[in-house]
Amino acid sequence: MTEREQLRAEIARKVTELFRLEHEPDEFVPGKTRVQYAGRVFDERDMNRMVAAVLDFWLTAGPYAEQFEQKLGEFLGMPEIVPVNSGSSANLVAVTALCSERRGERRLRPGDEVIVPATSFPTTVAPLVQNRLIPVFIDCTLGDYNPDPEQIRAAVSPQTRALMFAHTLGNPADMDAIMPIVREHDLIMIEDVCDALGSTFDGQVLGTFAEVATLSFYPAHHITLGEGGAVFTRDPRLARIARSVRDWGRDCWCGYENPPDGKCGRRFEREVPGVSGHYDHRYFFTEIGYNLKLTDPQAALGLAQLEKLPDFAAARKRNFQQLYSGLQEWEQQLLLPRWHAKADPSWFAFPISVRASAPFNRQQLMRHLEGARVETRVLFAGNVLRQPGFSGIDCRVVGELPVSDRVLRSTFFVGVYPGLDEARIDYMLEVFADFMRADLR
Ligand SMILES: Cc1ncc(COP(=O)(O)O)c(C=O)c1O
Repeated sequence: MTEREQLRAEIARKVTELFRLEHEPDEFVPGKTRVQYAGRVFDERDMNRMVAAVLDFWLTAGPYAEQFEQKLGEFLGMPEIVPVNSGSSANLVAVTALCSERRGERRLRPGDEVIVPATSFPTTVAPLVQNRLIPVFIDCTLGDYNPDPEQIRAAVSPQTRALMFAHTLGNPADMDAIMPIVREHDLIMIEDVCDALGSTFDGQVLGTFAEVATLSFYPAHHITLGEGGAVFTRDPRLARIARSVRDWGRDCWCGYENPPDGKCGRRFEREVPGVSGHYDHRYFFTEIGYNLKLTDPQAALGLAQLEKLPDFAAARKRNFQQLYSGLQEWEQQLLLPRWHAKADPSWFAFPISVRASAPFNRQQLMRHLEGARVETRVLFAGNVLRQPGFSGIDCRVVGELPVSDRVLRSTFFVGVYPGLDEARIDYMLEVFADFMRADLR
């Protein structure tokens, strides 16, 4: 072993020791330990991968980012992965890339309509507004909280060019009903899989139905890079545009190796249109871009997390089932989640709607759960159109969106993430039962 290797091995041992002292999960104390709705799940291997990348000190996207791209592509079975710094950035890059002039007739133009559910995460809708597209808001279905296929059909007009939606909380939308509408109207589909990494419909991984799809690696999600996200597609031309949008808008795709003559081998053979003489390809800009790149320490963490993904997914499904069985007793008052017979959801969380007939409201139940240290969240924006930031946007609305308004008023979710175990779920069920049985309201 060289001196460098010895030092690195010693640091790795110390990191492992520190992990055990500082981060090993504490014993669960009912009523005291917070039962989170989500959170990072990591061990000494994750910390050591990230520390190794910090010691390499590459900092920007480098060798680890390239490996992460490859491994994530293998998991999804997709050839083109464009890692970015968040799920919101992934949505922005995907939509902006679809608007690129370089896509010719297939490009989305300002004023084109894009169908999107009103029950959305805000940054699934924001990139449409940012690109001067017109969101056409549709309602969702209660219980699965996904776009209502009948509403998608009703929303299509001669101006409609695309459909963008998230598979809500990991629950696959009804792709058997949606895909024929997409094909019939030649819609460009964008799947937001930020909450649904690894979920399948009829055996097909979500995100692979669409022209382009997006992921988030925020700590709440199926794997985490701290912050992070990815765009993925089968289309190499779209992926190249997405990389350019991510990387300041430049045409160059050299990556971290940065060979003197460029990866294309033609670094000094390019011309700026209309100007004779060559121009360095590294500063040749073909898109209006941003800088939304990942860093190498984040990617290193992502590699370690990907190895855990199958176990994470199994834990999410197990926790979901335990909660589902336990809460069935209260179905008169609580509407439990529904999923399609062909869906195999890797659940992000467990959504519940308080029935209109229940003798209590959502706020009372959420307060009780939170008081007992069980974390809750409402279903993102509920009806995004009711959120002040979206009140003035140029859009079209299909119908009255009654279900989205119900979601706004009565839906919330609790956790199923792999940081929860049988004891914690049992405790959650007890806390629900206390509220339902006793006169705590
Ligand atoms: C469905 C959906 N899309 C997009 C995002 C945005 O991801 P990020 O937080 O990584 O920006 C989220 C966030 O949690 C989400 O739930």
